[in-house]
Amino acid sequence: MDKQAILQAAESYVKKELSTDSSGHDWWHIYRVRNTALTIARNENADLFICELAALLHDIADEKLNESEEAGLKKVQDWLIENKVEKPYIDHVIQIISTMSFKGGNRQPMETLEGKVVQDADRLDALGAVGIARTFAYAGSKGDLVYAPELKPRTSLTKESYRNGRSTAVNHFYEKLLKLKDLMNTEYAKTLADERHRFMELYLEQFFSEWEGEK
Ligand code: ADP
Ligand code: NI
Repeated sequence: MDKQAILQAAESYVKKELSTDSSGHDWWHIYRVRNTALTIARNENADLFICELAALLHDIADEKLNESEEAGLKKVQDWLIENKVEKPYIDHVIQIISTMSFKGGNRQPMETLEGKVVQDADRLDALGAVGIARTFAYAGSKGDLVYAPELKPRTSLTKESYRNGRSTAVNHFYEKLLKLKDLMNTEYAKTLADERHRFMELYLEQFFSEWEGEK
């Protein structure tokens, strides 16, 4: 099994598959998650090949891009078999991606170190300067406002109310982003998340000062 060739092929495949995506899962999201996953993996002594391969393929199975989660996972599995990835590696990558894309209520915890690394890298991409940019881009694409003081952040969201209720980009920080640092699995990701979290707090402070014309 030629690991470098497989990673190359995975990169080309993902670029092609996600070339038309505008839901926040474009190639550059994958690029950042891959790089962050490798940074965390080196610090946590995780398997670099598994982390890189799972990071590259993690959004191929996303329910937004497939008929169902099962169909998405089958697509990834077929690709891995076609590209002659050995069975234990296939099983590990599929296990990581299926746990990551499981959006239902009872979230399963990640079982392996490599899974923890890739999940942390994906969550980190929702934080910090990049996370802020993605949030406003996503809100704009949904037709949400940047901010509206009368719309309060929603608490204890169900999947449905989250999808259908009205919100704003700034509310998304309180509904999700500021909670993510406490969900990190690995120590190294926690240090990265803390820094990105502080940056978002600083950003919000400045934002509200400007909103009131104070600064
Ligand atoms: P993931 O990469 O975990 O699949 P999502 O598909 O939920 O993330 O979201 C993609 C990006 O859009 C993330 O940066 C996320 O924070 C942002 N986002 C998701 N939902 C909203 C929302 N309701 N308002 C603003 N930004 C959002
Ligand atoms: Ni992702």
